[in-house]
Amino acid sequence: IHTMRLYVLLACVLWGLESHSAPMKIATVSSRDNHTAVCLEIQRELMADKIAYNGSFKRPQNTSEELCYGEFIKDFISTLKNISTNYNKDCHIKKVYKDMTHLTNICPKLNETRSHKKCTTETSNFLKFKEALQSVVISIEGWKSCKRFKGIL
Ligand SMILES: *[C@@H]1O[C@H](CO)[C@@H](O)[C@H](O)[C@H]1NC(C)=O
Ligand SMILES: *[C@@H]1O[C@H](CO)[C@@H](O)[C@H](O)[C@H]1NC(C)=O
Ligand SMILES: *[C@@H]1O[C@H](CO)[C@@H](O)[C@H](O)[C@H]1NC(C)=O
Ligand SMILES: *[C@@H]1O[C@H](CO)[C@@H](O)[C@H](O)[C@H]1NC(C)=O
Ligand SMILES: *[C@@H]1O[C@H](CO)[C@@H](O)[C@H](O)[C@H]1NC(C)=O
Repeated sequence: IHTMRLYVLLACVLWGLESHSAPMKIATVSSRDNHTAVCLEIQRELMADKIAYNGSFKRPQNTSEELCYGEFIKDFISTLKNISTNYNKDCHIKKVYKDMTHLTNICPKLNETRSHKKCTTETSNFLKFKEALQSVVISIEGWKSCKRFKGIL
């Protein structure tokens, strides 16, 4: 009976170790390569940024046009780069600029421009620019994967 107890106890300990090590392995997937995590960080940085820039900013007219994201992202990145070089103190925008650039590296379909379709942009104020950026990032965050699938995007 004692050996039996010991065996059961040992089995439980081993099972416990096993079931704990599995999720730990999943959690070690680098958050830098996790498009969901990068998108969440971009949203946090956009919220934290309180500066209202003057001037006009290019933004997509329809942020639901996923086939245009390649073109839209290019415009976003060039505007963000411009702001972070002209206003060197804005660490939030600088971070958003870096994260957006990183996103194009982990989501290859984002820097494909395949517009047989018209991707319309408009000029707006900075607030509207930020709203459009946020809406595109939220949409990318919801993607199951950034990898390209035949037929989908
Ligand atoms: C990616 O990041 C999100 C948000 O932080 C997290 O919920 C998810 O589990 C992560 N996925 C992987 C594979 O690490
Ligand atoms: C925008 O313009 C207003 C009024 O001219 C000025 O007070 C403000 O400092 C400007 N903002 C930036 C970020 O340059
Ligand atoms: C925006 O784009 C989506 C997806 O292409 C389309 O279904 C929708 O009708 C468009 N909305 C407007 C107002 O053009
Ligand atoms: C870059 O920023 C400057 C100063 O705000 C502005 O005059 C210029 O038009 C911007 N260029 C682009 C490409 O957005
Ligand atoms: C996507 O853009 C990134 C950053 O600009 C670049 O390093 C990468 O080579 C591009 N990938 C493709 C497939 O064009």
